[in-house]
Amino acid sequence: MRWEQMWLSYQANDIESGKEYFKQIYLATDNIISQNMKKELLLAASQMWGMETLNFVEDKTNATLIFSLGNNEKYKEEGFHIYEKSGRIVVEGNTQKALLYGMFELLKDIRMHAVLKNMDKVSVPDKELRMLNHWDNFDGSIERGYSGNSFFFDGEHILINERTRDYARFLASIGINATVINNVNVKAQATEFITEPYLEKLAELQELFNGYGIQLYCSLNYAACMDIGGLDTADPFDENVINWWKERMDLVYRYIPNLGGFLVKADSEGRPGPFTYKRNQAEGANMLAKAIAPHNGTIIWRCFVYNCMQDWRDRKTDRARAAYDYFYDLDGQFLDNVILQIKNGPIDFQVREPFMPLFGKLKHTRHMMEVQIAQEYTGQQIDVCYLMPWFFEILHMHTYCGETADTIGDILSKKSCNQMGCGIAAVTNTGDDSNWTGHDLAGANFYGFGKLAWDSNATPQEIAKEWIMLTFGDKQDVLKAFETILMMSHPAYEKYTAPLGIGFMVTPHYHYGPNIDGYEYARWGTYHRADHFGIGNDRSQEGTGYAMLYHEPLAKQYNDKKKCPDNLLLFFHHVPYFHVLSNGKTVIQHIYDTHFEGVKDVEDMIQLLTSVKDALDETRYKRMQQRFDLQLENAKEWRDQINSYFYRKSAVKDEQGRTIY
Ligand code: GCU
Repeated sequence: MRWEQMWLSYQANDIESGKEYFKQIYLATDNIISQNMKKELLLAASQMWGMETLNFVEDKTNATLIFSLGNNEKYKEEGFHIYEKSGRIVVEGNTQKALLYGMFELLKDIRMHAVLKNMDKVSVPDKELRMLNHWDNFDGSIERGYSGNSFFFDGEHILINERTRDYARFLASIGINATVINNVNVKAQATEFITEPYLEKLAELQELFNGYGIQLYCSLNYAACMDIGGLDTADPFDENVINWWKERMDLVYRYIPNLGGFLVKADSEGRPGPFTYKRNQAEGANMLAKAIAPHNGTIIWRCFVYNCMQDWRDRKTDRARAAYDYFYDLDGQFLDNVILQIKNGPIDFQVREPFMPLFGKLKHTRHMMEVQIAQEYTGQQIDVCYLMPWFFEILHMHTYCGETADTIGDILSKKSCNQMGCGIAAVTNTGDDSNWTGHDLAGANFYGFGKLAWDSNATPQEIAKEWIMLTFGDKQDVLKAFETILMMSHPAYEKYTAPLGIGFMVTPHYHYGPNIDGYEYARWGTYHRADHFGIGNDRSQEGTGYAMLYHEPLAKQYNDKKKCPDNLLLFFHHVPYFHVLSNGKTVIQHIYDTHFEGVKDVEDMIQLLTSVKDALDETRYKRMQQRFDLQLENAKEWRDQINSYFYRKSAVKDEQGRTIY
């Protein structure tokens, strides 16, 4: 089965203008990136205009399309300038990678029918590291994968083929410059990734990625020195451990000199780490960072550290606090080649959470944000949930860190908190399904993530429009219908699932569909604490104190029931069902209303899809329609379980007398 080309399907639209600039193309350098650029230009020209060859010239005097390496500080390493003057288009940048990005931008503009005459645009990414994290297992399965199996691994083998190349093209076309190809949970044979039998193949992969400006990273097992090294400890202060890692990094870099580095999940959900030896997270991370430093490698160290063996009876321990409590005091103690990778929220990729309070508090430690486009808790690529409005909102949240540029986006783009070389990563939503992302509309999250990673100010709506046009063509009715669906999808999902920021209430382990008490008496620290009076977690000063971890005025706002934003109320407070929200409704009535609305929204989305049926190809239409049917079932299940549960707990009737079971 041949896979699809997503937004790089150059045949999606009829393109009239642009061809005239492809008469003579000047591409000065000859290297692995420029060779790939030539291939891409030819592919695009042949598919858009049926051109069979392209004329690449050595002299730019008469060239109509010029890719030119320059030296302009403004563009930094990856930015580009595209302009049209007197019948020729010039793409300028300081590096070959910048020209590659410029080329994809130009091709996109041509396909979007942009006016090329006199065009003049400069684009420089605001975040340095723009990364995908794959949770692909060595056996070919994907943890939290909703679009088939891995295209990197099959039965303990690393795959490199034309699909790998297409993957690299997709990444380059949206500006993603780094990728971690294996799951953060490195177990069993995956630990052997850093041994000779695999290094050769990984080197080949890095070589392919080099041609698209992508740096390869791998996840590693903190206890590899025991599991494959035969040592009896992984204590970061132990000489043998230190030496083992030094030698291991030397070996790895002998094979892959420009490997980016490693991503580490330590002391988290059963993974080994420095805590076993009474060492802190900085001591663990720095040991690896020292070993990799001679090779200019980076250790990306995850902050997803919490006690997953909590007693549900214990109301003082708070999973939301954990990362802050473990890492805040270590600010300034991490070596410069360590980057902390912090999930956007303090719990786990829920449809709504406050931002992790480490943002704005860490002032002397490099850090990046981790989001999840794999829709683990947001519909698993069965339900449509376009996440860019949510990520955009997060990137624009003020941390009140005391500097003028104080949003999360500002921090990730080095404008504040003394950051250097930081950025953003997404747990990816890709797999070997022919359309790559399971739900066709989940492709918007893949594309959109790249765009927001490049520019925090790219608006979700514009991104959506662009993606739709490039993927489905430029028919106005399709554009309008899909834009509406995408933009209403995250709010809809929020409405029909767990209310007012409480989160979870999902089927244990699997995480799709409702199970309100599924995690309530479990060890994972994700409780709703509902009884017949009310619901919510008390994270105020009187409760776990979590609200106070933020800078003012946020701490005060979150700490106060009356000032706390409605959509986070139950995250921060335990309130009676009769508590009145800012819209004048009681909590219980709000729960009923939003759950009825959420299902209605899904019905509206289905109607929108049906309305453009004739304008879509059958394969994609059917795929989407089937998933929408499942989404509707799911939304109804959520609605009825949530509404019935809270009706039974509270004994309060719905004001509108709708059916509750
Ligand atoms: C979630 C997810 C796990 C994953 C973990 C992580 O808890 O359910 O599958 O391993 O996050 O981010 O490490």
